[in-house]
Amino acid sequence: MKKERILVTGGTGYIGSHTVVELQQAGYPVVIIDNLSNSDRAVLDGIEAITGIRPDFVEADCTDLEALKALFAKYPDIKGIINFAASKAVGESMQKPVLYYRNNLNTLMNLLDLMGPNGVKGIVFSSSCTVYGEPDVNPVTEQSPIKKATSPYGNTKQISEEIITDVINAGAPFKSVILRYFNPVGAHPSAMIGELPNGVPQNLVPYLTQAAMGIRAELSVFGNDYDTPDGSCIRDYIDVVDLAKAHVIAVERMLQDKSEEKIEIFNLGTGRGVSVLELIAAFERATGVKVPHKIVGRRAGDIEKVWANPARANQVLGWTANTPLDDTMRSAWAWQCKLREKGVM
Ligand code: NAD
Ligand code: WQD
Repeated sequence: MKKERILVTGGTGYIGSHTVVELQQAGYPVVIIDNLSNSDRAVLDGIEAITGIRPDFVEADCTDLEALKALFAKYPDIKGIINFAASKAVGESMQKPVLYYRNNLNTLMNLLDLMGPNGVKGIVFSSSCTVYGEPDVNPVTEQSPIKKATSPYGNTKQISEEIITDVINAGAPFKSVILRYFNPVGAHPSAMIGELPNGVPQNLVPYLTQAAMGIRAELSVFGNDYDTPDGSCIRDYIDVVDLAKAHVIAVERMLQDKSEEKIEIFNLGTGRGVSVLELIAAFERATGVKVPHKIVGRRAGDIEKVWANPARANQVLGWTANTPLDDTMRSAWAWQCKLREKGVM
Protein backbone atom coordinates (compact mmCIF):
# COMPACT_ATOMS: atom_id res chain seq x y z
CA MET A 1 0.00 0.00 0.00
CA LYS A 2 1.32 3.43 -0.92
CA LYS A 3 2.31 5.38 2.17
CA GLU A 4 1.28 8.95 2.85
CA ARG A 5 3.65 11.90 2.59
CA ILE A 6 5.33 13.22 5.72
CA LEU A 7 6.55 16.80 6.16
CA VAL A 8 9.71 16.82 8.25
CA THR A 9 10.56 20.28 9.56
CA GLY A 10 14.22 20.59 10.54
CA GLY A 11 14.83 17.45 8.51
CA THR A 12 18.45 18.22 7.65
CA GLY A 13 19.25 18.56 11.38
CA TYR A 14 20.71 15.91 13.64
CA ILE A 15 17.63 13.96 14.74
CA GLY A 16 15.60 14.99 11.68
CA SER A 17 18.07 13.52 9.18
CA HIS A 18 18.16 10.17 10.99
CA THR A 19 14.37 10.16 11.06
CA VAL A 20 14.13 10.91 7.33
CA VAL A 21 16.33 7.86 6.71
CA GLU A 22 14.04 5.64 8.79
CA LEU A 23 10.89 7.08 7.19
CA GLN A 24 12.22 6.50 3.68
CA GLN A 25 13.36 3.00 4.57
CA ALA A 26 9.82 2.34 5.84
CA GLY A 27 8.44 3.50 2.48
CA TYR A 28 7.24 7.01 3.36
CA PRO A 29 7.66 9.81 0.82
CA VAL A 30 9.15 12.78 2.66
CA VAL A 31 9.45 16.49 2.10
CA ILE A 32 11.90 18.37 4.29
CA ILE A 33 11.63 22.04 5.17
CA ASP A 34 14.72 23.55 6.76
CA ASN A 35 16.21 27.03 6.78
CA LEU A 36 19.72 25.56 7.19
CA SER A 37 20.29 27.75 10.25
CA ASN A 38 21.90 24.79 12.02
CA SER A 39 22.49 22.25 9.26
CA ASP A 40 23.96 21.81 5.84
CA ARG A 41 22.43 20.98 2.47
CA ALA A 42 25.05 18.22 2.09
CA VAL A 43 23.07 16.20 4.64
CA LEU A 44 20.74 15.39 1.73
CA ASP A 45 23.64 13.58 0.04
CA GLY A 46 24.14 11.47 3.17
CA ILE A 47 20.45 10.57 3.32
CA GLU A 48 20.51 9.66 -0.36
CA ALA A 49 23.67 7.58 0.06
CA ILE A 50 22.03 5.52 2.82
CA THR A 51 18.54 5.11 1.39
CA GLY A 52 19.02 5.52 -2.36
CA ILE A 53 16.34 8.21 -2.29
CA ARG A 54 16.89 11.95 -2.27
CA PRO A 55 14.12 13.49 -0.18
CA ASP A 56 12.32 16.52 -1.55
CA PHE A 57 13.77 19.60 0.08
CA VAL A 58 12.42 23.11 0.53
CA GLU A 59 14.80 25.71 1.93
CA ALA A 60 12.54 28.02 3.91
CA ASP A 61 11.81 29.24 7.39
CA CYS A 62 8.88 27.73 9.28
CA THR A 63 8.19 31.07 10.93
CA ASP A 64 7.34 32.35 7.43
CA LEU A 65 3.64 31.54 7.13
CA GLU A 66 3.49 32.37 3.41
CA ALA A 67 6.40 30.04 2.65
CA LEU A 68 4.62 27.26 4.54
CA LYS A 69 1.39 27.92 2.65
CA ALA A 70 3.30 27.65 -0.62
CA LEU A 71 4.79 24.36 0.55
CA PHE A 72 1.36 22.90 1.33
CA ALA A 73 0.11 24.12 -2.05
CA LYS A 74 2.99 22.34 -3.77
CA TYR A 75 2.56 19.15 -1.70
CA PRO A 76 -1.20 18.71 -1.14
CA ASP A 77 -0.57 15.05 -0.23
CA ILE A 78 1.11 15.80 3.13
CA LYS A 79 -0.75 13.80 5.80
CA GLY A 80 1.66 13.90 8.72
CA ILE A 81 4.16 16.35 10.19
CA ILE A 82 7.19 15.70 12.34
CA ASN A 83 8.29 19.02 13.79
CA PHE A 84 11.98 19.08 14.65
CA ALA A 85 12.62 22.68 13.57
CA ALA A 86 13.69 24.68 16.61
CA SER A 87 16.64 26.47 18.11
CA LYS A 88 18.10 24.18 20.75
CA ALA A 89 21.13 25.68 22.52
CA VAL A 90 20.23 26.16 26.18
CA GLY A 91 23.02 28.70 26.86
CA GLU A 92 22.21 30.78 23.78
CA SER A 93 18.56 30.86 24.82
CA MET A 94 19.58 32.66 28.03
CA GLN A 95 21.30 35.34 25.93
CA LYS A 96 18.66 35.60 23.19
CA PRO A 97 15.33 34.60 24.72
CA VAL A 98 13.17 36.37 22.14
CA LEU A 99 14.89 34.51 19.31
CA TYR A 100 14.04 31.23 21.02
CA TYR A 101 10.43 32.09 21.84
CA ARG A 102 9.86 33.48 18.34
CA ASN A 103 11.50 30.68 16.42
CA ASN A 104 10.25 27.72 18.40
CA LEU A 105 6.73 28.93 19.11
CA ASN A 106 5.94 30.64 15.79
CA THR A 107 7.13 27.56 13.92
CA LEU A 108 4.75 25.37 15.89
CA MET A 109 1.80 27.79 15.69
CA ASN A 110 2.17 28.22 11.94
CA LEU A 111 2.10 24.47 11.45
CA LEU A 112 -0.91 24.03 13.73
CA ASP A 113 -2.76 26.77 11.83
CA LEU A 114 -2.16 25.13 8.48
CA MET A 115 -2.83 21.51 9.42
CA GLY A 116 -6.62 21.63 9.49
CA PRO A 117 -7.13 23.48 6.19
CA ASN A 118 -4.64 21.16 4.49
CA GLY A 119 -6.09 17.90 5.78
CA VAL A 120 -3.04 16.88 7.83
CA LYS A 121 -3.95 14.11 10.27
CA GLY A 122 -1.29 14.51 12.93
CA ILE A 123 1.85 16.15 14.23
CA VAL A 124 4.73 14.58 16.13
CA PHE A 125 6.43 17.12 18.37
CA SER A 126 10.04 17.03 19.65
CA SER A 127 9.86 17.71 23.36
CA SER A 128 12.52 17.03 25.94
CA CYS A 129 13.25 15.56 29.34
CA THR A 130 14.15 19.12 30.26
CA VAL A 131 10.45 19.54 31.16
CA TYR A 132 11.06 17.36 34.27
CA GLY A 133 13.88 19.63 35.54
CA GLU A 134 15.63 18.03 38.53
CA PRO A 135 13.26 15.15 39.29
CA ASP A 136 12.41 14.20 42.87
CA VAL A 137 12.31 10.54 41.85
CA ASN A 138 14.08 8.58 39.09
CA PRO A 139 13.28 7.10 36.66
CA VAL A 140 10.75 9.66 35.48
CA THR A 141 7.41 8.63 34.01
CA GLU A 142 5.17 10.79 31.83
CA GLN A 143 3.23 11.58 35.02
CA SER A 144 6.26 12.97 36.85
CA PRO A 145 5.79 16.62 37.76
CA ILE A 146 6.73 19.28 35.22
CA LYS A 147 9.17 21.65 36.92
CA LYS A 148 9.50 25.35 36.25
CA ALA A 149 11.78 25.72 33.23
CA THR A 150 15.28 26.98 33.98
CA SER A 151 15.95 28.37 30.49
CA PRO A 152 13.93 30.03 27.73
CA TYR A 153 14.72 26.98 25.57
CA GLY A 154 13.21 24.64 28.15
CA ASN A 155 10.26 26.96 28.53
CA THR A 156 9.56 26.81 24.78
CA LYS A 157 9.16 23.03 25.13
CA GLN A 158 6.73 23.40 28.04
CA ILE A 159 4.74 26.12 26.29
CA SER A 160 4.71 24.13 23.04
CA GLU A 161 3.22 21.13 24.84
CA GLU A 162 0.55 23.43 26.29
CA ILE A 163 -0.19 25.03 22.91
CA ILE A 164 -0.67 21.63 21.28
CA THR A 165 -2.92 20.53 24.15
CA ASP A 166 -5.05 23.68 23.98
CA VAL A 167 -5.40 23.50 20.19
CA ILE A 168 -6.44 19.87 20.22
CA ASN A 169 -8.79 20.33 23.20
CA ALA A 170 -10.39 23.18 21.24
CA GLY A 171 -11.44 20.57 18.68
CA ALA A 172 -8.71 20.72 16.05
CA PRO A 173 -9.28 17.96 13.47
CA PHE A 174 -5.93 16.24 14.04
CA LYS A 175 -3.90 14.27 16.58
CA SER A 176 -0.53 14.79 18.19
CA VAL A 177 2.19 12.64 19.67
CA ILE A 178 4.55 14.49 21.98
CA LEU A 179 7.90 12.76 22.37
CA ARG A 180 10.11 13.69 25.32
CA TYR A 181 13.65 12.81 24.32
CA PHE A 182 16.31 12.14 26.91
CA ASN A 183 19.91 12.62 25.68
CA PRO A 184 20.22 11.70 21.98
CA VAL A 185 23.76 10.62 21.05
CA GLY A 186 25.65 8.70 18.36
CA ALA A 187 25.22 8.69 14.61
CA HIS A 188 24.00 6.49 11.80
CA PRO A 189 26.22 3.36 11.77
CA SER A 190 27.07 4.06 8.10
CA ALA A 191 28.75 7.33 9.25
CA MET A 192 26.99 9.06 6.35
CA ILE A 193 25.04 11.36 8.67
CA GLY A 194 25.53 12.53 12.26
CA GLU A 195 25.56 15.60 14.45
CA LEU A 196 27.23 18.61 12.84
CA PRO A 197 29.48 20.54 15.17
CA ASN A 198 28.62 24.21 15.56
CA GLY A 199 31.50 26.00 17.25
CA VAL A 200 32.64 24.60 20.58
CA PRO A 201 30.24 21.77 21.48
CA GLN A 202 28.22 22.30 24.64
CA ASN A 203 26.95 18.72 24.76
CA LEU A 204 28.97 15.88 26.19
CA VAL A 205 29.38 13.43 23.33
CA PRO A 206 30.45 15.86 20.56
CA TYR A 207 32.94 17.41 22.99
CA LEU A 208 34.17 13.97 24.00
CA THR A 209 34.74 12.81 20.40
CA GLN A 210 36.53 16.08 19.58
CA ALA A 211 38.78 15.65 22.62
CA ALA A 212 39.50 12.06 21.57
CA MET A 213 40.39 13.37 18.10
CA GLY A 214 42.72 16.00 19.57
CA ILE A 215 40.59 18.92 18.36
CA ARG A 216 40.09 19.90 22.03
CA ALA A 217 42.91 19.55 24.56
CA GLU A 218 40.73 17.70 27.06
CA LEU A 219 37.18 17.09 28.10
CA SER A 220 36.15 18.86 31.28
CA VAL A 221 34.01 16.65 33.49
CA PHE A 222 31.67 19.06 35.20
CA GLY A 223 31.72 17.94 38.82
CA ASN A 224 32.50 14.74 40.73
CA ASP A 225 30.83 15.71 43.99
CA TYR A 226 27.22 14.96 43.06
CA ASP A 227 25.10 12.52 45.03
CA THR A 228 25.69 9.70 42.52
CA PRO A 229 27.81 6.52 42.83
CA ASP A 230 30.90 8.05 41.17
CA GLY A 231 30.04 11.70 41.86
CA SER A 232 29.45 12.69 38.20
CA CYS A 233 26.02 13.52 36.77
CA ILE A 234 23.72 10.84 35.42
CA ARG A 235 21.73 10.97 32.16
CA ASP A 236 19.84 8.61 29.89
CA TYR A 237 21.82 8.49 26.63
CA ILE A 238 19.66 7.26 23.77
CA ASP A 239 20.99 6.19 20.38
CA VAL A 240 19.79 8.60 17.69
CA VAL A 241 18.75 5.76 15.35
CA ASP A 242 16.61 4.17 18.07
CA LEU A 243 15.11 7.61 18.61
CA ALA A 244 14.46 8.08 14.89
CA LYS A 245 12.64 4.74 14.70
CA ALA A 246 10.21 5.82 17.41
CA HIS A 247 9.10 8.69 15.15
CA VAL A 248 8.12 6.32 12.36
CA ILE A 249 5.96 4.36 14.80
CA ALA A 250 4.46 7.54 16.24
CA VAL A 251 3.54 8.97 12.85
CA GLU A 252 2.11 5.65 11.70
CA ARG A 253 -0.08 5.53 14.82
CA MET A 254 -1.68 8.85 13.97
CA LEU A 255 -2.09 8.19 10.25
CA GLN A 256 -3.63 4.78 10.84
CA ASP A 257 -5.82 6.10 13.68
CA LYS A 258 -4.36 3.58 16.11
CA SER A 259 -3.93 6.10 18.90
CA GLU A 260 -6.75 6.12 21.42
CA GLU A 261 -6.20 9.65 22.65
CA LYS A 262 -5.94 12.75 20.50
CA ILE A 263 -2.74 13.68 22.35
CA GLU A 264 -0.26 11.09 23.50
CA ILE A 265 2.97 11.72 25.40
CA PHE A 266 5.91 9.32 25.52
CA ASN A 267 9.30 9.35 27.20
CA LEU A 268 11.97 8.20 24.78
CA GLY A 269 14.93 6.88 26.73
CA THR A 270 16.67 3.64 27.52
CA GLY A 271 15.63 3.44 31.15
CA ARG A 272 19.31 3.26 32.11
CA GLY A 273 21.15 6.05 33.92
CA VAL A 274 24.79 6.46 32.89
CA SER A 275 27.26 8.81 34.58
CA VAL A 276 29.68 11.07 32.73
CA LEU A 277 32.61 8.95 33.92
CA GLU A 278 30.84 5.74 32.88
CA LEU A 279 30.22 7.22 29.43
CA ILE A 280 33.90 8.08 29.01
CA ALA A 281 34.80 4.53 30.07
CA ALA A 282 32.27 3.07 27.61
CA PHE A 283 33.72 5.16 24.78
CA GLU A 284 37.27 4.07 25.59
CA ARG A 285 36.23 0.42 25.88
CA ALA A 286 34.22 0.45 22.66
CA THR A 287 36.73 2.30 20.49
CA GLY A 288 40.09 1.66 22.14
CA VAL A 289 40.66 5.42 21.95
CA LYS A 290 41.58 7.38 25.07
CA VAL A 291 39.65 10.49 26.05
CA PRO A 292 41.89 13.06 27.72
CA HIS A 293 39.81 14.48 30.54
CA LYS A 294 39.97 16.28 33.85
CA ILE A 295 37.51 16.91 36.64
CA VAL A 296 36.49 20.54 36.98
CA GLY A 297 33.80 22.34 38.98
CA ARG A 298 30.08 21.90 38.43
CA ARG A 299 28.40 23.59 35.44
CA ALA A 300 25.79 26.10 36.58
CA GLY A 301 22.25 24.86 36.10
CA ASP A 302 23.13 21.19 35.57
CA ILE A 303 20.66 18.53 36.65
CA GLU A 304 22.26 15.99 39.00
CA LYS A 305 20.50 12.91 37.71
CA VAL A 306 17.66 12.09 35.37
CA TRP A 307 16.72 8.98 33.48
CA ALA A 308 13.56 7.70 31.87
CA ASN A 309 11.00 5.13 32.67
CA PRO A 310 10.25 4.22 29.03
CA ALA A 311 7.63 1.55 29.90
CA ARG A 312 4.78 3.42 28.24
CA ALA A 313 6.66 3.75 24.93
CA ASN A 314 7.77 0.11 25.23
CA GLN A 315 4.24 -1.15 25.77
CA VAL A 316 2.05 1.21 23.76
CA LEU A 317 4.38 1.89 20.82
CA GLY A 318 6.05 -1.53 20.90
CA TRP A 319 9.35 0.33 20.75
CA THR A 320 12.53 -0.17 22.74
CA ALA A 321 15.86 1.64 22.63
CA ASN A 322 17.95 -1.47 22.19
CA THR A 323 21.24 -0.33 20.65
CA PRO A 324 24.01 -1.22 23.10
CA LEU A 325 25.84 1.83 24.47
CA ASP A 326 29.16 0.55 23.11
CA ASP A 327 27.72 0.44 19.56
CA THR A 328 26.48 4.01 20.01
CA MET A 329 29.94 5.10 21.13
CA ARG A 330 31.46 3.42 18.06
CA SER A 331 29.01 5.21 15.76
CA ALA A 332 29.79 8.55 17.41
CA TRP A 333 33.50 7.91 16.86
CA ALA A 334 33.06 6.74 13.25
CA TRP A 335 31.17 9.97 12.53
CA GLN A 336 33.90 12.07 14.15
CA CYS A 337 36.46 10.25 11.97
CA LYS A 338 34.29 10.93 8.90
CA LEU A 339 34.18 14.65 9.74
CA ARG A 340 37.96 14.63 9.94
CA GLU A 341 38.21 12.78 6.62
CA LYS A 342 35.95 15.36 5.02
CA GLY A 343 38.02 18.15 6.54
CA VAL A 344 35.05 19.53 8.50
CA MET A 345 36.63 19.02 11.92
P1 NAD B 1 19.31 20.46 15.03
O1 NAD B 1 19.65 21.87 15.29
O2 NAD B 1 20.37 19.55 14.54
O3 NAD B 1 18.07 20.38 14.01
C1 NAD B 1 17.08 21.35 13.95
C2 NAD B 1 16.95 21.76 12.50
O4 NAD B 1 15.91 22.74 12.38
C3 NAD B 1 18.20 22.38 11.92
O5 NAD B 1 18.50 21.75 10.69
C4 NAD B 1 17.84 23.86 11.71
O6 NAD B 1 18.50 24.39 10.57
C5 NAD B 1 16.34 23.77 11.51
N1 NAD B 1 15.56 24.95 11.88
C6 NAD B 1 15.62 25.66 13.05
N2 NAD B 1 14.72 26.65 13.01
C7 NAD B 1 14.07 26.57 11.83
C8 NAD B 1 13.03 27.31 11.21
N3 NAD B 1 12.46 28.36 11.80
N4 NAD B 1 12.62 26.94 9.97
C9 NAD B 1 13.19 25.89 9.35
N5 NAD B 1 14.16 25.16 9.87
C10 NAD B 1 14.61 25.48 11.11
O7 NAD B 1 18.66 19.88 16.38
P2 NAD B 1 18.30 18.40 16.79
O8 NAD B 1 19.25 17.98 17.86
O9 NAD B 1 18.14 17.55 15.60
O10 NAD B 1 16.91 18.64 17.50
C11 NAD B 1 15.68 18.45 16.82
C12 NAD B 1 14.55 18.75 17.77
O11 NAD B 1 14.65 17.91 18.92
C13 NAD B 1 14.54 20.18 18.30
O12 NAD B 1 13.21 20.60 18.41
C14 NAD B 1 15.17 20.04 19.67
O13 NAD B 1 14.74 21.06 20.54
C15 NAD B 1 14.63 18.69 20.10
N6 NAD B 1 15.45 18.03 21.12
C16 NAD B 1 16.78 17.84 20.89
C17 NAD B 1 17.55 17.22 21.87
C18 NAD B 1 19.03 17.04 21.68
O14 NAD B 1 19.74 16.87 22.66
N7 NAD B 1 19.55 17.06 20.45
C19 NAD B 1 16.95 16.78 23.06
C20 NAD B 1 15.59 16.97 23.24
C21 NAD B 1 14.84 17.61 22.25
C1 WQD C 1 25.38 15.82 29.71
C2 WQD C 1 26.24 15.61 30.93
C3 WQD C 1 27.14 17.61 31.89
C4 WQD C 1 29.72 18.67 28.53
C5 WQD C 1 21.12 19.39 27.45
C6 WQD C 1 19.92 20.28 27.52
C7 WQD C 1 18.65 19.49 27.50
C8 WQD C 1 18.61 18.52 26.33
C9 WQD C 1 19.90 17.78 26.15
C10 WQD C 1 17.27 19.41 24.55
C11 WQD C 1 25.98 16.62 32.03
C12 WQD C 1 28.24 16.73 31.36
C13 WQD C 1 28.83 18.03 29.36
C14 WQD C 1 31.10 18.71 28.92
C15 WQD C 1 30.55 17.44 30.89
N1 WQD C 1 18.39 19.15 25.09
N2 WQD C 1 29.22 17.43 30.52
N3 WQD C 1 31.44 18.08 30.08
O1 WQD C 1 22.89 18.93 30.17
O2 WQD C 1 21.77 16.69 29.95
O3 WQD C 1 21.06 18.49 28.52
O4 WQD C 1 21.02 18.66 26.23
O5 WQD C 1 16.17 19.40 24.92
O6 WQD C 1 17.61 20.40 27.45
O7 WQD C 1 19.99 21.02 28.73
O8 WQD C 1 23.28 17.46 28.12
O9 WQD C 1 25.25 16.86 26.80
O10 WQD C 1 25.16 19.16 27.85
O11 WQD C 1 25.48 17.17 29.31
O12 WQD C 1 30.92 16.90 31.93
O13 WQD C 1 31.95 19.28 28.25
O14 WQD C 1 27.60 15.78 30.55
O15 WQD C 1 27.51 18.19 33.10
O16 WQD C 1 26.11 15.96 33.24
P1 WQD C 1 22.29 17.92 29.30
P2 WQD C 1 24.83 17.72 27.93
